Amino acid sequence: MKVIAINGSPRKDWNTATMLRHALQGSADRGAFTELIHLYELDYRGCSSCFACKTLGSPSYGRCAQQDDLAPVLRRIEEAGALILGSPIYFGQVTGEMRSFLERLLFPYLRYSREKRSLFPRKMDTAWIYTMNCPEAAIKDAGYDRVFAENERLLKMIFGGSCFTLTSHETLQFADYGKVDADMFDPAGRKARHEQVFPRDCERAYELGARLAQNISRGLPS
Ligand SMILES: Cc1cc2nc3c(=O)[nH]c(=O)nc-3n(C[C@H](O)[C@H](O)[C@H](O)COP(=O)(O)O)c2cc1C
Repeated sequence: MKVIAINGSPRKDWNTATMLRHALQGSADRGAFTELIHLYELDYRGCSSCFACKTLGSPSYGRCAQQDDLAPVLRRIEEAGALILGSPIYFGQVTGEMRSFLERLLFPYLRYSREKRSLFPRKMDTAWIYTMNCPEAAIKDAGYDRVFAENERLLKMIFGGSCFTLTSHETLQFADYGKVDADMFDPAGRKARHEQVFPRDCERAYELGARLAQNISRGLPS
């Protein structure tokens, strides 16, 4: 069994990637094989609207026909036991690369049918991990709760299992706040938060990864 995590941040060692690594460690400690994929290392585009995945009798029916760096990743996800998607919030959404990835991941499985909506061959649990500047208390006012709910709905519709969401707020954005034009932030507060709160967020990510792996090994939709 394998748990795959997808990093939608351009930064390979910052907040989102760190949370994902903790999640995968949780999975590995429950016996799962794990893989972390950085989207920004890959050369790919979003859905090209070719509809090969929807064409009846096409060799690509239910699969993305675009042959680029994402093609082998999508094949590995089809074999995975669980999938974790991580993204920073950029302008109230996931990053552009994560969005393009989602188009390529989800659209081939989506059926334009009133009955069975997904061609994904089994049930798979999934999770979202988001990191952001936005304080937890401001999530509703910013409308992010609706973004998170919609992203959960999409993954549940396509993959059929449970979808969990984990968020980390007021993350450390800059290594040195003194060097950037960002006077709306309190650098000391951010640093303290990074030392005190972020490790707890990482523990929650670890628990999430462990739970996903446990559910696979028990054969349970959670
Ligand atoms: C282009 C860009 C847009 C951003 N937009 C938002 C935003 O709309 N809301 C927010 O809370 N944080 C925003 N942020 C902050 C990031 O979400 C935050 O720093 C995140 O933890 C970065 O993740 P990383 O450390 O994994 O790269 C933005 C950052 C960048 C670079």
